[in-house]
Amino acid sequence: MLEIVIARIKMKNPLMLASGILGLTKESMEKFNHAGAVVTKSIGKEERKGYKNPVFYETECGILNAIGLANPGIDEYIKEIKGIKIENLIGSIFGKDEEEFSYVAGKISEYVKAIEMNMSCPHAKKFGIEFPTEEIKEAVERVKEAKKPVFVKLGVENILKRAEQAIEGGADAIVAINSIKAMAINIEVGKPVLGNKIGGYSGRAIKPIAIRCVYELASNFDVPVVGVGGVMNAYDVIEYLMAGAHAVQIGTGVYHMGEKIFSNICNELMEWMEKNNYEKIEDIVGLALKK
Ligand SMILES: Cc1cc2nc3c(=O)[nH]c(=O)nc-3n(C[C@H](O)[C@H](O)[C@H](O)COP(=O)(O)O)c2cc1C
Repeated sequence: MLEIVIARIKMKNPLMLASGILGLTKESMEKFNHAGAVVTKSIGKEERKGYKNPVFYETECGILNAIGLANPGIDEYIKEIKGIKIENLIGSIFGKDEEEFSYVAGKISEYVKAIEMNMSCPHAKKFGIEFPTEEIKEAVERVKEAKKPVFVKLGVENILKRAEQAIEGGADAIVAINSIKAMAINIEVGKPVLGNKIGGYSGRAIKPIAIRCVYELASNFDVPVVGVGGVMNAYDVIEYLMAGAHAVQIGTGVYHMGEKIFSNICNELMEWMEKNNYEKIEDIVGLALKK
C-alpha cells in the first residue's frame, strides 16, 4: 500500500531519512532500515572539521544549525559504509565545482543506489546556495557519468531556475528544501548564538515554505520531487504528496521523536488511506495540483 518507485528506486514507503541526521556511521544509519531510503550525511572530497561550537540551537519553533559540512572525506567514509545493511542507501555529496562533485560521485557510486547532490547548504559558501546557478547543469552531467540516479537537493533561493538547470543536466529527481539561512542572538551577551553566526533553520516552521516550493516544482517540471522540511506526522506527509511530492525526507522530526517516527508515520498513513479509500501513494500525489 505504501510502496512507491522514484527515479527507478523501489521504496517500501515514501519516507526517507534526510541528509545530516545520524548519517555518519553505519550503526546509526542501520537503525533506519524501516524507512523507504536513507540519505547519508553530505560527504566531500577532503575531510572537513566543521565550524566552531555552538553548532546547534533549539528555537521556539525549529532548530538552527551550522555544522559546517563536517565529514571525514570520501575515502574514509567509504570504509564506513562498505557492507552496510540498508535496502536503499542514497549518498549525499557536495563539491565546490563539477570536478569535485564528479570525483566524489565516482568514488561513492558503487556503494549506493542513488546520489543526492547537495547544492543548497545555507552557510557553506560555494559548497551550497552560492554554487553558481550557471554551473549546475554541467555538474549534474558529470555526476550522471557515475551511472546512478541523481537527486539534486535545492534550497528556497531561486529554486525554479536552479531546478531547470539541474533537469537540463539530467537530474532524475529534485529534493526540496534544505534548511533556510537564519540566525539567533544571545541577548545576554549581545552576540550571535552560533559559532558560525549564521546557520540553517529547519523543523515545523519551514514546512509551508517547503510545500510552496514542492508545489511550484511539480507544477513546472515532470521529474519527481522529494519534499523536505518540518515533517512530524502522516498529515504532513499527505500534504507534501498532495502538493506533488512522490516522497518526503525527515530530519528535525527524528531529533524530536527518534527513529520510531518512521514506523509511527507509516501506521498513521495506512490508517488514513484506508479511511479515505486510497489504495496507493500515487493516488494522492499531486491531488492539489489538479484543483
Ligand atoms: C543538524 C542538521 C544537519 C544537516 N546536515 C545536512 C547535510 O549534511 N546535507 C544536507 O543536504 N542537508 C543537511 N541538513 C538539512 C536537512 O537534510 C533538511 O533538508 C532540513 O533540515 C529540513 O528538513 P527538516 O525540517 O525535516 O529537518 C541538515 C539539517 C540539520 C538539522
